[in-house]
Amino acid sequence: MNSIQVWKPEDYDNQLSFVSAYGKGLIEHLAPRQGERILDLGCGTGDLTSEIAESGAIVVGMDQSKEMILRAKDKHPSLTFIQENGESFSTEVPFDAVFSNAALHWMTNAEDAVSSIYRALKPAGRFVAEFGGKGNVETIVNSIYEVLSTGYNMDALTHNPWYFPSIGEYTSLLESKGFRVTLAHHFNRPTRLHGGKNGITGWLTHFGDSFFTKLAPEEKTTAFEKISQLTERTLWKEDSFYADYKRLRIIAYK
Ligand code: BEZ
Repeated sequence: MNSIQVWKPEDYDNQLSFVSAYGKGLIEHLAPRQGERILDLGCGTGDLTSEIAESGAIVVGMDQSKEMILRAKDKHPSLTFIQENGESFSTEVPFDAVFSNAALHWMTNAEDAVSSIYRALKPAGRFVAEFGGKGNVETIVNSIYEVLSTGYNMDALTHNPWYFPSIGEYTSLLESKGFRVTLAHHFNRPTRLHGGKNGITGWLTHFGDSFFTKLAPEEKTTAFEKISQLTERTLWKEDSFYADYKRLRIIAYK
């Protein structure tokens, strides 16, 4: 994980509630059962961890962000949350399943992340995940590159904190580590952003830290406005921006 992302748990729960809302559909694929041990990798503030726990499964939420873990513990005091790096964790007791929603694209060392997940599973354990796939938020990323390279003489590519693999790339990686992939689906999921005309600047404020660390605050504001203008032609529909999310959904077995 090479990002300089600063997580703000309140924003995550309020303006970004769609992250957990979309994740509920993924829990249907997980189909948790009473008594199973399940790891929620990249649990954020723990809302999906809590939803999984309603099945009677014994769930552990894991996240690298201390702020997110503190908030998760505060909101869901009866559940277990641990702060750990998703690329290099190990667990003493193995899990029946590892679940991960909207987190793996922050783990740029995907080989190590997949190895950690494999290690954490019992034999025949399942891995159920969804995250950004190839082409995810492409319009936003290209606009960031354009604005930073022309206005600020920056090679923004080197500041990109995200890993958005193709279906072939990721399933090959899983297979190379020993997984048997039973489902892989790469699909468009245009995602409505809060805030009307401020939707893109809000999204950049929450997720784009790594690109803009070298800019002074007023430069950052100007850059955000330019990026917003560039994306408007493609992403603005009626009353909102719709980010061009492209998800990769995976089910694989150890
Ligand atoms: C995503 O969920 O696809 C995503 C979120 C923040 C930054 C990049 C991608």
